[in-house]
Amino acid sequence: HKLELKLEMLEKGGYEHFMLKEIHEQAFTVRDCMRGRIYPNEGKIQLGGLKDFDEKLKTANRIIIIACGTSWHAGLVGEYLIEEYARIPVEVEYASEFRYRNPIISENDIVMAISQSGETADTLAALEIAKERGATIFGICNVAGSSITRFTDAGVYTHAGPEIGVASTKAFTAQVTVLTLIAFYIAQLKEKIKPDAMKVLLTELDSIPDLIKECLKTEEATKYIAQDIKDINNSLYLGRGIGFPIALEGALKLKEISYIHAEGYPAAEMKHGPIALIDEGFPVIVIATKSSSYEKVVSNIQEVKARKGKVIAIVTKGDVDVRKSADFVIEIPDADDTFLPLLATIPLQLLAYHVALLRGCNVDQPRNLAKSVTVE
Ligand code: G6P
Repeated sequence: HKLELKLEMLEKGGYEHFMLKEIHEQAFTVRDCMRGRIYPNEGKIQLGGLKDFDEKLKTANRIIIIACGTSWHAGLVGEYLIEEYARIPVEVEYASEFRYRNPIISENDIVMAISQSGETADTLAALEIAKERGATIFGICNVAGSSITRFTDAGVYTHAGPEIGVASTKAFTAQVTVLTLIAFYIAQLKEKIKPDAMKVLLTELDSIPDLIKECLKTEEATKYIAQDIKDINNSLYLGRGIGFPIALEGALKLKEISYIHAEGYPAAEMKHGPIALIDEGFPVIVIATKSSSYEKVVSNIQEVKARKGKVIAIVTKGDVDVRKSADFVIEIPDADDTFLPLLATIPLQLLAYHVALLRGCNVDQPRNLAKSVTVE
């Protein structure tokens, strides 16, 4: 029995839970995911898995991303990045909805499935429909040789290594990394980014693993905040632009492992409903980093404070404005908005983890959830 316990500790790399280990691994897994694919000095990007489909990528009318759960959130980030850099229209769909609604698909469409396990039944079924209707189908998967990787025409592995915690963490940031690479890759093919600009982007991307290490240092702050909010029943997560899918993912993490109700919302939509929930002490977690919508998000924070809500804000290092009104701030390093999802996600994962821990929840195996959902 003692030996078994020791083995388990070894597997967890000295961490109390797989989830915490996997959160901390992200500085390395994001690096592994870029290895051999980016050449910052040359401003070049290479994706071996897609290169036979360069022509398809150049001429595609549309990209449809299908996924479930956390992978679907990665898809929303992908939409933002691919449209921004590659200038191809993107739609992101829940696999379970796509498969049952007679979708309109043509041969000029690329359907991309995102799946950590590569085994999710709905995602696989959605791909079958897309293939039947003539689309080119790609996979973004973590598990080599999984059903989705075998079924697709091509794909890009996320190389995050085995993820044991049911709540996805390192697989998510690896998916986002792959989507960033795909956005840049198509932009390169279509000459939408000038070589000099590509150098700048790839150099910054190359520095992200170091910035993730900085983000991991927010753990103390998240522990402290977790003490304050551990007994709440409801919460709201707000973000705007590329920060919106991060708000969704932050809310999902808290909900999955701590069983606290959490909703993610686009910050500007707050006035169309969620604002009614806000009263004294109601926790609102806001992604309020420096970006084009910064001022607007700051005014959302003021609206929450005017109703005596409790604001926990993720801000850019050195921020002064948000600090004036927020109850708690968590600082992350400055980076281009493009890379925000890879950074802002980290403290939200840590916050969810520490809240769940304080509530005595089974962090690695939350009730009613499965790591891979192979049935409908
Ligand atoms: C389950 C897991 C989630 C995961 C989702 C999609 O619900 O608990 O963590 O995001 O399935 O799984 P996939 O393997 O397709 O990414």
